[in-house]
Amino acid sequence: METKALTASCTVVVGCQWGDEGKGKVVDVLAGSADLIARYQGGANAGHTVHVGDHLVVLHQVPSGVLHPDKRCLLGNGVVLDVSQFFTEIDGLAERGVDPGGRIGVSTRAHVVFPYHKALDLAAEKVAHRKIGTTGRGIGPAYEAKTGRRGVRIADLLDRARGVNRVERAIEWARARLRELGADPDLAGTVEDALALTGRLAPVATDVGDEIAGALAAGKRVLLEGAQGTALDVDHGTYPFVTSSNTTAGAAAVGAGIGPTAIDSVVGVVKAYTTRVGNGPLPTAFDAAMDERVREIGAEFGATTGRPRRCGWFDAVLASYAARVNGLTGIAVTKLDVLDTLSELKIATGYRINGEVRTLFPAGVWELENAEPVYEVMPGWETPTTGARSLSDLPANARAYLSRIEELVGTPIAMVSVGTRRSQVIREP
Ligand code: IMP
Repeated sequence: METKALTASCTVVVGCQWGDEGKGKVVDVLAGSADLIARYQGGANAGHTVHVGDHLVVLHQVPSGVLHPDKRCLLGNGVVLDVSQFFTEIDGLAERGVDPGGRIGVSTRAHVVFPYHKALDLAAEKVAHRKIGTTGRGIGPAYEAKTGRRGVRIADLLDRARGVNRVERAIEWARARLRELGADPDLAGTVEDALALTGRLAPVATDVGDEIAGALAAGKRVLLEGAQGTALDVDHGTYPFVTSSNTTAGAAAVGAGIGPTAIDSVVGVVKAYTTRVGNGPLPTAFDAAMDERVREIGAEFGATTGRPRRCGWFDAVLASYAARVNGLTGIAVTKLDVLDTLSELKIATGYRINGEVRTLFPAGVWELENAEPVYEVMPGWETPTTGARSLSDLPANARAYLSRIEELVGTPIAMVSVGTRRSQVIREP
């Protein structure tokens, strides 16, 4: 199982479902042998719950690799940065004895999320005909501003006069749009608040692509940490019930500021079952009783919003699509232990849509809403797996379940996680 995925010099870790696959845990484990960890997209909509000593800390903006005291952690140009959230997290970590000061950097090309983006996010959801169920963190409006060429970048903020000018014009635009949406939030102080943080931003601002290229040229190992998941990708996901960035591995090069040829491995993270938070189809959803049972065992509540996640069976149609879209070289299966008490497991191998069985993930949400999964049934193992540290420690039925996933996804399993602790992981045959 020591695949290329675990030994390459530039590895992308990408979610292969609807986010919350446990990427933070996988990054935390892989970060042990990396020198530099960078995020390439998304913003404070992400949520990684990590252990800091005896405390549980939720990180939204800071990469989860930060817990390794000697690693450089970067936020690439593809990220949208909520600057005050970023410094709040850094201060929170420092209070708990993990001071990332001096080893954290932010791309000068990253766009800034302002309070008016959050106001726009909430106002748009309020009037939407079909609500997306966003995290309310201003992600969509910040990316809209970026592609609409109205955005404000870190580089702009650091040049005071330019920054004031761009923020003022952006506020003017936002006010007009907010009025159209029937909202009138108090945006006074936005410019002053943004400028107040530039003193702290200046020392962390950097050219992330240049740093990563330099690290790779010096023989160092780099991890590119994705947020959300393939089915939330703005191009490849269940559009329009998606986030506003490309979450897939191709975006890692663009969002980190390096060329695609620099990447030599892509680890896809899949939960041993499926979850989704926010609106949109989930074809393999459990019935109500099973939904509640697995949500309780797996603590399936959103790390950013606290919303209950919908839960369902493992969806191999989605996972094999994700393998292709991301060019996976290995998969990491997480939360296998959550299934320990189930007597029977199902895996969706196709969707019946209008009487026809399809194995290719469809483009239309209306097709997914009508999809009836075609299931393969496998026996459960009804034995705890949390103490397993090698595949041979697992019950035979758990090994068979993993082998079937591996076969259906067409990608070797590089890692299996059996608990929340860093040590609860299987990495060798
Ligand atoms: P936004 O990214 O806040 O615009 O939300 C768009 C959709 O993506 C909603 O369904 C959110 O619930 C979902 N989403 C965004 N970030 C995450 C995440 O980190 N995990 C899981 N779902 C997410």
